[in-house]
Amino acid sequence: MRIVAFGASNSSTSINKALATYAASQVEGAQVQVLDINDYSVPMFSEDKEKEIGQAEGAQQFLADLAEADAIVVSYAEHNGYYPAAYKNLFDWASRINRSVFQDKPVVYLATSPGPGGAQTVLAAATASAPYFGADVKASVSVPSFYDNFDFETAAVTNQEIADEIKAAVAKLA
Ligand SMILES: Cc1cc2nc3c(=O)[nH]c(=O)nc-3n(C[C@H](O)[C@H](O)[C@H](O)COP(=O)(O)O)c2cc1C
Repeated sequence: MRIVAFGASNSSTSINKALATYAASQVEGAQVQVLDINDYSVPMFSEDKEKEIGQAEGAQQFLADLAEADAIVVSYAEHNGYYPAAYKNLFDWASRINRSVFQDKPVVYLATSPGPGGAQTVLAAATASAPYFGADVKASVSVPSFYDNFDFETAAVTNQEIADEIKAAVAKLA
């Protein structure tokens, strides 16, 4: 199984990218490709810009890379309760090419933040809208207080209960 994983964040030190990478690695025998949304350059979306350039190349490439997946793992960063602007912008461009951004693939949605809320608000928003964007959500998990529950040296979740929850979630992708 080929899993495409990414953090919905443009931070070079994204904790969500780290979490998505870890979660995907928990599927035994899977081939994992980790995307970085910074690799998909798109201008700020506006309908005027869309009339000018048509489809943004970065969004075309993002959709093409998702198309390669048998399953997708996304971990959402939360900015003021919603997607970070950079991800929302890429997502908006992609949705104008193919509203089924996740292309009817099985997905696991994760979210984390340094605080106790674990980015639950953005996770709930993403999960609620998933059917409109072709995401077949098999499970969703919020990880609170990321820095207390993840070890960067081993790139692994240290809290056994959370690790078990993530393993059970990604097992549903098979
Ligand atoms: C503009 C901004 C807004 C934020 N809003 C929230 C928020 O609503 N909830 C939350 O838990 N964390 C919030 N944070 C903190 C992020 O969770 C934190 O920066 C986290 O590292 C983002 O994930 P990332 O490292 O994957 O980008 C915010 C951070 C920024 C810069």
